[in-house]
Amino acid sequence: MPDVAASPAAPHVTRREDYRPPEWLVPDLALDFTLDAARTLVRARLEVVRNGDHKAPLRLDASGLHILDVRLDGETVNYWFENDVIRINVPGDSGTIETEVAIAPKTNTQLMGLYESGGMLCTQCEAEGFRRITPFPDRPDVLTRYRVRMSGHKAAYPILLSNGNPVASGEDGKAGTHWAEWEDPFPKPCYLFALVAGDLVANRDNFVTRSGRTVDLAIWVREGDLPRTEHAMASLKAAMKWDEQVYGREYDLAMFNIVAVDDFNFGAMENKSLNIFNSRYILADPDTATDMDYDGIAGVVAHEYFHNWSGNRVTCRDWFQLSLKEGFTVFRDQSFSADMGSEAVKRIEDVRLLRAAQFPEDAGPLAHPVRPDSYIEISNFYTATVYNKGAELIRMLHTILGPEKFRAGCDLYFASHDGEAVTCEDFVRAMEEASGEDLAQFRLWYSQAGTPKVKAQLVQEGAVARVLLEQEVPPTPGQKAKQPMPIPLKLALFGARTGAKHDDRLFILDGAKEELVIDGLTEPAVLSVNRDFSAPVIVETDRGAADLAFLSGRDDDPFARYEAMQQLMLDTLKQAVSNGEAAHEPVIEAVRETLANQALDPAFIAEAVLLPSEAFIGDHMKLVDPEAIHRAREALRAALGTTLESLWRDAYATHVANRYEYNPAAKGARRLRTIALGYLAAAGAADAPAIAKRQYDAADNMTDRQGALGVLANGDAPEREAALAAFYDRYRNNGLVLDKWFSTQALSTRADTPAAVEALARHPDFTLANPNRLRSLVGAFSVNQRAFHDASGRGYAFLADMILAADKLNPQTAAKLVPPLGRWRRFGEDRAKLMRAALERIVATPGLSKDVYEQASKSLA
Ligand code: BES
Ligand code: ZN
Repeated sequence: MPDVAASPAAPHVTRREDYRPPEWLVPDLALDFTLDAARTLVRARLEVVRNGDHKAPLRLDASGLHILDVRLDGETVNYWFENDVIRINVPGDSGTIETEVAIAPKTNTQLMGLYESGGMLCTQCEAEGFRRITPFPDRPDVLTRYRVRMSGHKAAYPILLSNGNPVASGEDGKAGTHWAEWEDPFPKPCYLFALVAGDLVANRDNFVTRSGRTVDLAIWVREGDLPRTEHAMASLKAAMKWDEQVYGREYDLAMFNIVAVDDFNFGAMENKSLNIFNSRYILADPDTATDMDYDGIAGVVAHEYFHNWSGNRVTCRDWFQLSLKEGFTVFRDQSFSADMGSEAVKRIEDVRLLRAAQFPEDAGPLAHPVRPDSYIEISNFYTATVYNKGAELIRMLHTILGPEKFRAGCDLYFASHDGEAVTCEDFVRAMEEASGEDLAQFRLWYSQAGTPKVKAQLVQEGAVARVLLEQEVPPTPGQKAKQPMPIPLKLALFGARTGAKHDDRLFILDGAKEELVIDGLTEPAVLSVNRDFSAPVIVETDRGAADLAFLSGRDDDPFARYEAMQQLMLDTLKQAVSNGEAAHEPVIEAVRETLANQALDPAFIAEAVLLPSEAFIGDHMKLVDPEAIHRAREALRAALGTTLESLWRDAYATHVANRYEYNPAAKGARRLRTIALGYLAAAGAADAPAIAKRQYDAADNMTDRQGALGVLANGDAPEREAALAAFYDRYRNNGLVLDKWFSTQALSTRADTPAAVEALARHPDFTLANPNRLRSLVGAFSVNQRAFHDASGRGYAFLADMILAADKLNPQTAAKLVPPLGRWRRFGEDRAKLMRAALERIVATPGLSKDVYEQASKSLA
């Protein structure tokens, strides 16, 4: 059973300003596991050393453990055990602590600590799971050398893995059992500990580092999954090479293992030399994984690998510094993926995610700085702000300093802090020292929450243009007044007559109000600003449809081009929502020009011609009217589909492939083709369902198949039910693909989606116990704006029911589902009331976890 906070009404708040160095260090730890799913025995021997001049007792975190024995220097010792903390008086300045505890992996439904998944045993310790395995100072600034012994039944657990290198193994005296010992030479925080025991097979390969060392690579999966590990292996090798080339970082052990598990709270975990992955980020073949899945695998494999330096060799002092490793590593994985494929499309995808997940967070009740000041439950702070805004901060440093100075700053950071647990401040200081630039004001990006708003206006008189820039950082919970921040804006001026570029520069807006004068213009100019999305801000300009259409066809920065098109679409849709109608022609003409432009990459065209999502449109309205937004967007989609029908048919025919290939060009073609199909369906073309069904039946890959299914799922043609049934029958034994079956239906734009989702929650294949399945239905539904915000309020009640049911099993995963309810201020009174009622019902539930309590109570404020 999960821990229930003693009193969720007055839970303990942890504050950054209260940080104190650890009173005791643990340089060495020996662990001995007697593995059994029902009852595992864990014996630990900790060498403890007093840190500094004080009399404080040794403090060990211990959560959900059955404590059998505690000894100091071989003798039974008195200890205090209160609120999940063991305190022991150690008279000298060092000692040996031995503990023995029992834990139950089989009934561990939280998936934190040691748990069972599909017959194997595995661990998840970040952030505070190690205390659920053995008593230990569970904080990232205690660095320890590990020696781990595991023993268990050979039949159930033929493979025994831990961090570092295998040092010994053998058969036990007891029949049918064996053991293995592993040693990790690198001192590490306990959140990086890992153990895996199971019946697994490996895809083996190797990588020769640039200094000539051979690293043995292995990806461990169930036997039948072996053929689906090739892409993950190729991605790992590409990531290892890239980190050497771009950051000069080499891998540091002789072995690197990855294990895939089906039940996992997150995407993946960077445990030292033993990464553990949600199987969705390892397993792929053309029949079961989409292009998006392939890209996700490459990105996540790279991300966890990159942590070996940005996170493991240099780790976090405390969890408030989480962005130190996560923001930096997300920036690194984004750069890697950009280098492996289309830089422009990758930037568009990253910005789309930032705007869909982080901007609303920054504008709502759960807003917090990239380096938070306090938390109740740290697992609630693995947020889009810490990750994605954090990555934008690192990107801004890269932009402001330039690639060479940025690299020098990284080198200095790694060299001066290798083997240490440090802070975001240490990172910025290394950048400052290596570059000689003053980053005093830049530090505000770490401490101030809220997305800055930038007003940009171009005033031209003859040859002289003035660019007027203003910034404002909005108030957020606990932060009323804000200071101006340094905002790096890439901007350019284009001649409206010739399309010539007249200026292109990086301007750092560091005051509340600044003016930039550009002389020597020979024609009226159009302003392109925040090009390449150089700063994570909301830009407001007075550019009209003509300027936006011009930029969408002429700007030489692909992101700015995409952005101009999005702005044009958004302005049109906002007008349609408020007035009931709007002129569609400027959007249609801009899309026509983009579609017809042979010089453009089809992958880019696909992004550019997509309308902003209903949720994104809502984010730009004073109050969200989900039905009006849905109608306006569908009307524009239909107009685009009808008016440009022959172009969509051309695109559909042109981008057909003879057979499946995985490369950027083939991916772009597939994406544009299914988007064209979507527009034909939106146009109401009589043959659209038949074309979709044909695409479904003929598909030799999951991208085309799921693409066709998604188009059918939004409509009501008879082909819809047939395709959904066929998909289910074909993939009912593949959990990852079945997740797609659930999410496709939960994301449907049909009016009956709320009822369909309620029914799917009673489907025999639905389970609250598997985080992927829970997210595929409930998580997907909650971002489907029209369905979730059904005026009846049934969507809110359903989500609350699911959160409460899931909380009993897995509080962390349940808490991640709360934020959509916290957006009540953005909706009209009727919906706001219903959303608040759902949150109030959650908060009033006895036995609530502190995870859900924190998210729901803060969401009401
Ligand atoms: N260190 C995290 C895993 C993690 C997440 C542990 C949350 C504890 C709580 C890992 O490096 C990570 O960030 N994983 C991401 C994927 C990544 C590509 C952004 C995840 O799991 O979503
Ligand atoms: Zn990470």
